[in-house]
Amino acid sequence: MTSGDSINKRKRGVVLTPRGLQKLRDAIANLEDEENFAQKLTLAELSIRTRLTADTVAKVLDAEQAVDRRTLDSFFRALHLQLSESDFCRADLRQAQHPPQSLPKQSANVLVQIDWGEAVATSSFYGRTQELETLTQWVQTDRCQLITVLGMGGIGKSSLVAKLIDQLAKSNSSPTAPSFQYVIWRSLSHAPTVEETLIGLIHTLSNQPDIDLPKALHPLISQLMQYLIQMRCLLVLDNTETILQAGEQAGSYREGFEGYRDLIRKIGQSPHQSCVILTGRELPRQMNLLENKPYPTRTLLLKGLQLQDGLQLLQSQAIDGTEADHHTLFHHYAGNPLTLKIAAATIQLLFLGNLARFLAEGITVFGAIYELLDHQFKRLSHLEKNIIHQLALHREPMPLPHLTQAITPPISPQTLLETLENLGWRSLIECSPTGFTLQPLLMEYATIQLIKQPNDQPPIE
Ligand SMILES: Nc1ncnc2c1ncn2[C@@H]1O[C@H](COP(=O)(O)OP(=O)(O)OP(=O)(O)O)[C@@H](O)[C@H]1O
Ligand SMILES: [Mg+2]
Repeated sequence: MTSGDSINKRKRGVVLTPRGLQKLRDAIANLEDEENFAQKLTLAELSIRTRLTADTVAKVLDAEQAVDRRTLDSFFRALHLQLSESDFCRADLRQAQHPPQSLPKQSANVLVQIDWGEAVATSSFYGRTQELETLTQWVQTDRCQLITVLGMGGIGKSSLVAKLIDQLAKSNSSPTAPSFQYVIWRSLSHAPTVEETLIGLIHTLSNQPDIDLPKALHPLISQLMQYLIQMRCLLVLDNTETILQAGEQAGSYREGFEGYRDLIRKIGQSPHQSCVILTGRELPRQMNLLENKPYPTRTLLLKGLQLQDGLQLLQSQAIDGTEADHHTLFHHYAGNPLTLKIAAATIQLLFLGNLARFLAEGITVFGAIYELLDHQFKRLSHLEKNIIHQLALHREPMPLPHLTQAITPPISPQTLLETLENLGWRSLIECSPTGFTLQPLLMEYATIQLIKQPNDQPPIE
């Protein structure tokens, strides 16, 4: 295209006529009354609703600078208006028009308030550089609306997200890093109803703890969404497994908590400028469906710490041992910081800090570590437990055909693969080149379990 062509094209652009501009202004005013508590919508909010850039929104409303006709089409459609021929004219033929009233400027992206709720402390935090980079990219660059951080108990999900918030707060002073106006952390570990969660969030976001709120779910969700549209907020809902069913129905919401499905769907599927992070040992099944929706949604499967970071953590726990013994301990707990810390506390208390003596006992699953594994194991379906028992009995990695033969009553390869995938997502099995196996800790747990409850042992062929 020559420069002359592009000048002609610009000339051929269109602008709103006074009639078209009035139609648009009336629709925006209606929207402000009905959905924005009669507050002015900023350019940023209109940009989110129309999926046009804030600059283009400003150009359209300015009605002076030429825009593409398709831009007007999109703008009008987003406000449920029909664009007719009398609503616009060619920019080069337009009559003088009254300048439109300007919309409030987009407020600076300043992090104004953090409500940590029951967030965990992050003072002694090691590693996770890669994971923090990934999350920062998803939050800041990709502007994901919904992110889940999934992983075993104690692997460090809450600590990681708390660290992310720390870093975002620090980078807030940088003018190039758009940050949040509100950050709120809520734990679902005491299983609040969705209405309780919504009311708590709205009270915080409105800065009005006594504000009267609707009781019904959908008006509450709409009210929260208004805040997520108006301001850039970061909400963390920690421990989401508490609101999910265990066993055969894993991934579905517990009875009485189904309203969370509507909340999460709305957050994932309708446009806003905020980000919600869910953390949990299990994921709502609906996440699979949301990942393909137009607004970006991502899941981070969190594994153990890197060796160097785990060794640093162990050093901070004041236990004595050779480098090789530290490596053995790290690998046994697969870099899980919680179990490493529990083991280190026991080594200090019962073995006077002597790592070699602890390892010589050969007992690494006990007390709080047993309870942690037991809690996760008890939430599995019958088939998932059966697979773990088989892998524990076999001890060596099992190729798929062997595993299929070992499971009784027989199941289809598809069901087996799906179930293995679910176990993989929960970091309960490992895939090696020679087949599926359990990480050492789980191997020991499952073996203890088989000895304790031989009647639960699945039939072996
Ligand atoms: N990167 C890290 N460096 C040092 N300690 C860590 C790190 N990550 C987690 N921890 C420590 O490990 C323990 C468990 O971490 P955290 O509570 O974040 O795990 P979680 O995955 O959220 O567990 P849960 O599933 O029980 O909620 C905490 O004591 C925490 O301080
Ligand atoms: Mg946690």
